Amino acid sequence: MTKQKKAENTKKIWAIGGGKGGIGKSLFTVNMGVGLANMGKKVIVFDSDLGGANLHTLLGIKFVKYNLNDYINKTCELEQTILPTSINNLWLISGADGILGSANPSYFQKMKTIKCFNKLEADYILVDLGAGSSYNVLDFFNSADEKFVIFSPEPTSIQNVYGFLKSAIYRKLIRTFKGNKPLMDTIKKAIDPKNERKVSTMDELSKIVYEANQDGHNIFRQTVNNYRPNTIINMLKNKGEQNIALGLNMTVKKFLNLDMNYLGCLESDDIVSESVKAMTPFMKMSPNARVSKSINKIIRKLV
Ligand SMILES: Nc1ncnc2c1ncn2[C@@H]1O[C@H](COP(=O)(O)OP(=O)(O)O)[C@@H](O)[C@H]1O
Ligand SMILES: [Mg+2]
Repeated sequence: MTKQKKAENTKKIWAIGGGKGGIGKSLFTVNMGVGLANMGKKVIVFDSDLGGANLHTLLGIKFVKYNLNDYINKTCELEQTILPTSINNLWLISGADGILGSANPSYFQKMKTIKCFNKLEADYILVDLGAGSSYNVLDFFNSADEKFVIFSPEPTSIQNVYGFLKSAIYRKLIRTFKGNKPLMDTIKKAIDPKNERKVSTMDELSKIVYEANQDGHNIFRQTVNNYRPNTIINMLKNKGEQNIALGLNMTVKKFLNLDMNYLGCLESDDIVSESVKAMTPFMKMSPNARVSKSINKIIRKLV
């Protein structure tokens, strides 16, 4: 693969998050990558999960020589970090361990990583996020052109994904007003969990922003309106559980005033864990399994 400028009007960086570990983020990333690659798209999957980098294992790659950090530190060329996989049109870049793994990587360093993505000739770069809602995870999520959150029908997972989205949109708003310190501080104070009078809904925050700065409020409104994450339920055991997605959408709309795009669900299937053991994506191992068909259905909604 060679370097190329990002084509105009393409939504190429897709980030996959969801708060909770073990919910299927990495498997969804890899298998959506396979599905897109099968359609002839050039796809790079990027492993940003610092604590538990394992995309290479899911792709059957045992040894990673250079990761993105090596490129950022100038020990290798960008091309050397792009590893071929056993699937046509699908490549892997391993995470920037050193930089992003440092205790407090700067926003600038993270944005530098994103800039690297834009230099790559690929139709899609799928960023597999780690668990939790650390600034690392949130900044990658927020800088993506298309955002995905995965959750399972369990209440704990739903709670986590709600918390994740709340942290992500608040982080987005704070970064948006970085150049307007008084307004940024107003928002920070209004959402500070230590503040006894902290807001509990986006509407309350909206009022505070409006009172503080009407021009800023327009930007605030646009930012919230344009923030539309895609949602996917994983490990579905029966159709009825799909209603949970509607419930989450309603809660997120009510409290965070965000519109979400429900893409569909992935069934709970033994083939998934078999594919992990075989170090082969289930989309390759069992393209006709229901869960593989569900991945293709999701892709068709997006591409
Ligand atoms: N649709 C599914 N059906 C059955 N098991 C699943 C499914 N999705 C994920 N799993 C199981 O959950 C485990 C964790 O998935 P993984 O993608 O590594 O999670 P995450 O990246 O969110 O931590 C997998 O190893 C697999 O055993
Ligand atoms: Mg993972």
